[in-house]
Amino acid sequence: MSTSSARLPGGNWALGDLTVTRFGYGAMQLAGPGVMGPPADRDAARAVLRAAVEAGVTHIDTSDAYGPRVTNELIREALHPYPPSLRIVTKVGATRDGHGGWPTARRPEDLRRQVHENLASLGLDVLDVVNLRLGTAEGPQAGSLAEAFETLVELREQGLIRHLGVSNATVEQVVEARSIAPIVCVQNMYNLAHRHDDALVDTLAGQGVAYVPFFPLGGFTPLQSSTLSGVAARRGVTPMAVALAWLLHRSPNILLIPGTSSAAHLRENIAGAGLSLSPEDLAELDQIGR
Ligand SMILES: NC(=O)c1ccc[n+]([C@@H]2O[C@H](COP(=O)([O-])OP(=O)(O)OC[C@H]3O[C@@H](n4cnc5c(N)ncnc54)[C@H](OP(=O)(O)O)[C@@H]3O)[C@@H](O)[C@H]2O)c1
Repeated sequence: MSTSSARLPGGNWALGDLTVTRFGYGAMQLAGPGVMGPPADRDAARAVLRAAVEAGVTHIDTSDAYGPRVTNELIREALHPYPPSLRIVTKVGATRDGHGGWPTARRPEDLRRQVHENLASLGLDVLDVVNLRLGTAEGPQAGSLAEAFETLVELREQGLIRHLGVSNATVEQVVEARSIAPIVCVQNMYNLAHRHDDALVDTLAGQGVAYVPFFPLGGFTPLQSSTLSGVAARRGVTPMAVALAWLLHRSPNILLIPGTSSAAHLRENIAGAGLSLSPEDLAELDQIGR
């Protein structure tokens, strides 16, 4: 598959020895409603993935829990054999129940099974980056990650994983993970209106660790703010463009993984994220989540 040589907004970032574009793609929205089951239009879902790679995106975020298995299978169907530059980041630590819930599954045997399931569904011998997903669907929860994270370290030492990260993590859990083994990324909820992790973003930037916000556009509830709409109207762009551009301006270690089931929205988001925000725009936007 041909990839674009055009530089994507934000340029590149190194996840350990793996280079990724800061503009990535989150695959969760490709599964059916409630992130359960297949999409209504499987061809359209595969076309979104191909459009991302053709635009030059080299970072796709996924999980075998999406569907479950659905997004990983779509990624394999659309993109395997993978372009050498493509990095697929997955996560383990949660599974799905029959009601669409996300029960935690972080015992050593759960994690070993999930790593092998991700390898099989993605058609890979080694996973580029695996995030240990902590907490619950309601958010992070305090508690030691040692046993679970050490299990992933063992799997990395066996050659099944290149790099590790954590997701839905508290600051204490990030510190604990780093005391056990290097991490290349933290994937937590963060956007213009949800800035609980502001200090963590800056700390990780100083340590060369990527911060990958999930729900960069608000997730299942689109970001709504009169300040955001006002800046977007003044600049003649959409609120989504401003929200993505703001994240790229916020810190050089922020990687974008906006989700969409639409190739048109994907192209809009790539163009929008390249918006250059003025100091006046940034000062106004900074008030939203404060
Ligand atoms: N670690 C975790 O626990 C966790 C949790 C949640 C998500 N994630 C990851 O984070 C990624 C991003 O999160 P997300 O996809 O849930 O939320 P998001 O990126 O904040 O927002 C996605 C929503 O925005 C809409 N959208 C995107 N671009 C648009 C545009 N240009 N115009 C209008 N609507 C647009 C999408 O609808 P359309 O499909 O109609 O475009 C979709 O409903 C996921 O794909 C997943 O990989 C991780």
